[in-house]
Amino acid sequence: MNQRKIVILGSTGSIGVNALDVVRRYKRQYQVIGLAANSNVELLAKQIKEFQPDVVALGDASRSEKLAKAISGLRKKPQIWTGTAGLERLARHPKSDHVLCGMVGSRGLLPLVAAIKAGKTIGLANKESLVVAGDVIMALSKKHKAPIIPVDSEHSAIYQCLQGQRSADVARIILTASGGPFYRYEGDLDAISVAQALNHPTWKMGAKITVDSATLMNKGLEAIEAHYLFGVPMDKISIVIHPQSIVHSLVEYADGAMLGQLSHPDMRLPIQYALSHPARAVTAVKPLKLDEVARLDFAAPDFSRFPCLKIALDAGKRGGTAPAALSAANEVAVKAFIDGQLTFMGIPSLVSRVLARHKVRNKPTLDDVLEVDRWAREQAQTDIDSRQARSGRMNEGLIHA
Ligand SMILES: NC(=O)c1ccc[n+]([C@@H]2O[C@H](COP(=O)([O-])OP(=O)(O)OC[C@H]3O[C@@H](n4cnc5c(N)ncnc54)[C@H](OP(=O)(O)O)[C@@H]3O)[C@@H](O)[C@H]2O)c1
Repeated sequence: MNQRKIVILGSTGSIGVNALDVVRRYKRQYQVIGLAANSNVELLAKQIKEFQPDVVALGDASRSEKLAKAISGLRKKPQIWTGTAGLERLARHPKSDHVLCGMVGSRGLLPLVAAIKAGKTIGLANKESLVVAGDVIMALSKKHKAPIIPVDSEHSAIYQCLQGQRSADVARIILTASGGPFYRYEGDLDAISVAQALNHPTWKMGAKITVDSATLMNKGLEAIEAHYLFGVPMDKISIVIHPQSIVHSLVEYADGAMLGQLSHPDMRLPIQYALSHPARAVTAVKPLKLDEVARLDFAAPDFSRFPCLKIALDAGKRGGTAPAALSAANEVAVKAFIDGQLTFMGIPSLVSRVLARHKVRNKPTLDDVLEVDRWAREQAQTDIDSRQARSGRMNEGLIHA
């Protein structure tokens, strides 16, 4: 394999750190051209020292001085670019051929578009971008010959199960879900604390996706992601709870055969696959011993206890700008939950109220989805603020569903 020159957007996050672990293992195969982050200057400085990128981009421009100071003693210092323009510029850096999109939220959308327009091979973890602008992204990827290799473990599994098959023969995609920390929880879901929601049983991830996994919104977003990535209609995508997170997803074919991909849950495997595709190489993930695993459980999801899943699937079926409004409202709701302003079940309530007010536009352009993203964020924030004011509990903070 020729040395791959990579840019990692979101290098200080859970995906970024795991991606750099893959690079560390295969230093001769990968050269890091650029790294991008937002606020974690200390970790970014350490990464710069170790991986010596040509450029770093900081979403939060106000931290660039602090970063410059932190790396002032280094002999080889990268250029520092800032803001969305800096991230986009890094995403299309002429020296790179691969861009790993590991930022969280729809802030990753414009850098992703820049990388695609520059014809890069994309490793896509940033699912929100695809949920928000799926048709636009897939059309651009085709037009600019910029292949998208999924990093999400479920989509990586599906991608692998589709290799060498005819898309016309796909009968169904089955996305597996761990069920999150509350799959068997019998207490009051509305009383769930932030610490409980952030304690995922099988995956160690960033805060937003961990809360999304607890509400099952994550699985709904993943269904929409799969719909756009693989061109499979929403009604041919099923969800099954699989608490062990060993079977990462499956594809069912016309003849009834089902192909799945299995491994211990460790993001370094799908990340490495996205970076090395079509080659495979040894990973730090220990091989699976099926006799030790012994059993694999599967169950139907409970839509009534986890309304986010149904809300997301409905938005995916509605299409147009509905997924963009869903994703933006959810980002605001999850942040409000983490900040202690909303209860756990307040998340689906808030997202549905925003969606109920949204007038869906069909066949949206990039500008349309960006506008809807802004609109839905404003709606969600105004909703939180006005409820807080009405409840007269401004100092207590918590709003119930
Ligand atoms: N974690 C997983 O195992 C996993 C699995 C599948 C899919 N995903 C998807 O991958 C994406 C990243 O997830 P994560 O868990 O890695 O999230 P995370 O740990 O919260 O990391 C997010 C990264 O994005 C950066 N970032 C946030 N806002 C930014 C901005 N405005 N400009 C530049 N960088 C910005 C953060 O920088 P700072 O830290 O410096 O602020 C951080 O590096 C999400 O879309 C998630 O759904 C994650």
